[in-house]
Amino acid sequence: MANILNFNIRGDYNGKLVALEQNKDIPFEIKRVYYIWDTAKEVVRGRHAHRKLEQIIICMRGSCDFILDDGHSKETVHLDNPAQGLYIKNNIWREFTNFSEDCVIMVLASEHYSENDYIRSYDEFLREIVR
Ligand code: TYD
Repeated sequence: MANILNFNIRGDYNGKLVALEQNKDIPFEIKRVYYIWDTAKEVVRGRHAHRKLEQIIICMRGSCDFILDDGHSKETVHLDNPAQGLYIKNNIWREFTNFSEDCVIMVLASEHYSENDYIRSYDEFLREIVR
């Protein structure tokens, strides 16, 4: 279920650089970028799935844990490397927590923001994936 993309690092003595191009390194057209920081360690974010949206999650700094659930099994992914992207397709329930104090997460999204795309009830998620 967890699909980790390993990005090419173009590093030299000046430091490291990752370049991401839509439809190449990122397997969709990027319609939205957002980022999350300043979240306390014990907070649980997410708690939803998306009907259509696909996302790549990149932990730019620090670390956090993503718990993915496809309705059959759960998997926890620890993110702490800005050269990796966690690819989450649609119809995956996600929760993320255990934020380090310096954690900054950047999300690349395949769709514009739409509340109608969210499934915010776990029971509704289970009903929708068996349809
Ligand atoms: P939400 O997706 O519920 O946050 P998370 O899953 O990270 O806990 O979004 C939190 C709030 O921000 C919610 O009121 C919707 C708003 N929001 C936008 O306006 N645009 C966006 O692109 C996103 C992701 C959220």
